[in-house]
Amino acid sequence: MTSHHLLLLPGDGIGPEVAGEVEKLVQWFSNRGLARFEIEKDLVGGAAYDEHGVALADDALNRALAADAVLFGAVGGPKWNDVPYNQRPEAGLLRLRKDLGLFANLRPAICYPALAEASALKREYVDGLNLVIVRELTGGVYFGEPKEIVTLENGEKRAVDTQIYTTHEIERIARVAFELARQRRGKVASSEKRNVMKTGVLWHQVVNEVHKDYQDVALEHILADNCGMQLVRNPKQFDVIVTDNLFGDLLSDVAAMLTGSLGMLPSASLGAEDPATGKRRALYEPVHGSAPDIAGQGLANPLAMIGSFAMALRYSFDLGQEADLVEKAVANVLAAGIRTKDIAAPGANTVSTSDMGDAVIRELETLI
Ligand code: NAI
Ligand code: MG
Repeated sequence: MTSHHLLLLPGDGIGPEVAGEVEKLVQWFSNRGLARFEIEKDLVGGAAYDEHGVALADDALNRALAADAVLFGAVGGPKWNDVPYNQRPEAGLLRLRKDLGLFANLRPAICYPALAEASALKREYVDGLNLVIVRELTGGVYFGEPKEIVTLENGEKRAVDTQIYTTHEIERIARVAFELARQRRGKVASSEKRNVMKTGVLWHQVVNEVHKDYQDVALEHILADNCGMQLVRNPKQFDVIVTDNLFGDLLSDVAAMLTGSLGMLPSASLGAEDPATGKRRALYEPVHGSAPDIAGQGLANPLAMIGSFAMALRYSFDLGQEADLVEKAVANVLAAGIRTKDIAAPGANTVSTSDMGDAVIRELETLI
């Protein structure tokens, strides 16, 4: 059986707590002989700064480059508020994203029927919702130059951000979206603002061009402002939404609120395919941060981290059935009313981080 090489970077705050529950899952898969993992651990964020004086040591980066996938907990916390700007905990994550070339950010929005009441929308709009936003992560207005604030001759200031996209950048993110749609319900919505932005015009053209290779996938173009409206009006119309860095940032946060708690949201960031092996660099992480307000108390919901592990099974290890199994176990645990505090009704019984992880494993036992 192939052994999958996983680098675990638990990080700070609740990061190590939720990462511990994934370690249990990895162990369970090995014990049951369903999949074999070689798991390494290293420091990132504040934990790495305390030990090495940098948010990500070269050694850890090299391990990440060599791994089949990186599982990342969360970084940051008040303890590191005063460290030098370029060594703040988040710098560890930014370095990983940059050096692994992670240009595609996948943010699923799945509404578990048992949690539909936690949505910002009424149950009928979100029950059974399952969409993915594919956000371009390394280009666009957050990185384009010039990026500056200059003082004009009349004393006024002028701020400039620049949105830049090349054919290559659009093409590769479009391919990720179409490939993903093929494994799902075969629908892509491409979102930009070609009515007012040149990058939108090029985006629209290139996505149409790439679509010629994916005629089995249905493509629609939707202006980004309308996409925001449609996400709130009728989110179940979507399967895969592909969009740029800025619109993706906004639209994925809107989509997140359709599903309830931050403690439930997984994500994946993918890099280019290695032409020799067909493998992609990849990092999987919960959307939430290190939650210093609840760290160390066993209160953290591990399901976002467990969901991120399921995405690693599906996208890095070609273990789609095993990923389905984990997601089914999570759905069943929720249907049985087991809740961490963040997803519980006021006054309802709650379980700890570790109990939630154990409940998922117990459910897996009944499913195999
Ligand atoms: P946060 O996501 O850590 O927490 C926001 C709120 O959600 C808190 O009340 C927290 O208790 C709750 N929460 C988050 N995850 C939860 C979970 N799994 N279970 C139960 N409740 C959960 O965001 P915040 O407070 O803005 O940032 C805290 C620290 O985390 C900061 O240092 C920030 O820079 C960092 N951060 C790191 C990220 C990363 O590592 N990718 C992402 C976002 C923030
Ligand atoms: Mg955001």
